[in-house]
Amino acid sequence: MTRSVPPMLSTAELRSRIARVPRTTLAHLPTPFEFLPRFSQAISPNGPRVWIKRDDCTGLLFGGNKARHNEFLIADALAQGADLVVWGAGVQSNNCRQTAAACAKVGLDIHLVLGRGKPADGPDIVQGNLLLDHIVGASIEIVEESVGPDLDQKISDVAARFRATGRKVYLWERPVVLPLAALSYALCLAEIVEQSAASGFEPAAVYVSSAGSTGAGVALGAAALGCRFPVKSIAPMTWPWDSQVEMSATANRAAELAGIDTRLAPDDILFITEQLAPGYGQPSDAGLAALTLLARTEGILVEPTYTAKALAGLIADVRVGLFNAGNDCNGQSTDVVFLHTGGTPAIFAEAEMLSERIARKVL
Ligand SMILES: Cc1ncc(COP(=O)(O)O)c(C=O)c1O
Repeated sequence: MTRSVPPMLSTAELRSRIARVPRTTLAHLPTPFEFLPRFSQAISPNGPRVWIKRDDCTGLLFGGNKARHNEFLIADALAQGADLVVWGAGVQSNNCRQTAAACAKVGLDIHLVLGRGKPADGPDIVQGNLLLDHIVGASIEIVEESVGPDLDQKISDVAARFRATGRKVYLWERPVVLPLAALSYALCLAEIVEQSAASGFEPAAVYVSSAGSTGAGVALGAAALGCRFPVKSIAPMTWPWDSQVEMSATANRAAELAGIDTRLAPDDILFITEQLAPGYGQPSDAGLAALTLLARTEGILVEPTYTAKALAGLIADVRVGLFNAGNDCNGQSTDVVFLHTGGTPAIFAEAEMLSERIARKVL
């Protein structure tokens, strides 16, 4: 199956379609778009220029992709008259931290069901995201289930428990939240297209950490705008189901919600699993090298679980010469974009591992 090709939209048209869907302002937008001169030089002196889209600067309790997602999800919760959000993921979830902050901002109660089971987080040290969840006033329940279908079932059970007491619960359910969240990343892609055009180039590729709505939304935005460059979703995890199938279905449902004619086939999602080892939530040598290099050349932080692995994917492609002049999608551009999706508070729960594995600089 190939992608059907409806007339391409302008960024303004894409925005006006998505404006049909209710949205609550939460994020600092547009996020900055910056050239990384020392990082580009360090990974390949004659390679592409690397740019960064700073979605670690979206605000809402230390930034990240869930500030954008929540603009649509919280609007949906408010439209449904919810008085309680029941959400859940791993103990150090970035998603839960920013969702708890969003609830604080609009005055909704939130109950978090945080899974301690592998491959999530191990000990529930009150640090990083979990500390912030507490401070921002989330009610927290730590359970033994692992992130995935078991935890999803647990979250629905907890939601049912609250419903039985008369609460109007907005529940984290993948088929509902994923397409709404994806819309926010179609908009992010529009920002990237405008910001790169203002800097005089069309990207040769966009890299993002995702196994879900973020990559689905960026891919939808790129297809709807008729972009020629690939969007590479670098997998931080795999699910028990086929991510290309789920992400394309997410993009297509998002498109339907906004009245966009573009449709994606599973193969339109470039889902790259090469950086995943040794597994979800477990740091890789390449990721830690990417983290250290970005910090030491540009003073910008990524974290081991998501963004460091995505950056390692970009570095690997640059180093095999994928973006040498003439090798890219339009034969000219040698600019690649890393979409930084945040997550940095998680590093404080990993201080021991990082202090052991990050080489110390001694002069
Ligand atoms: C920092 C960060 N980046 C990327 C992602 C991936 O987002 P998704 O797979 O939901 O698109 C997450 C998910 O929690 C995250 O916390």
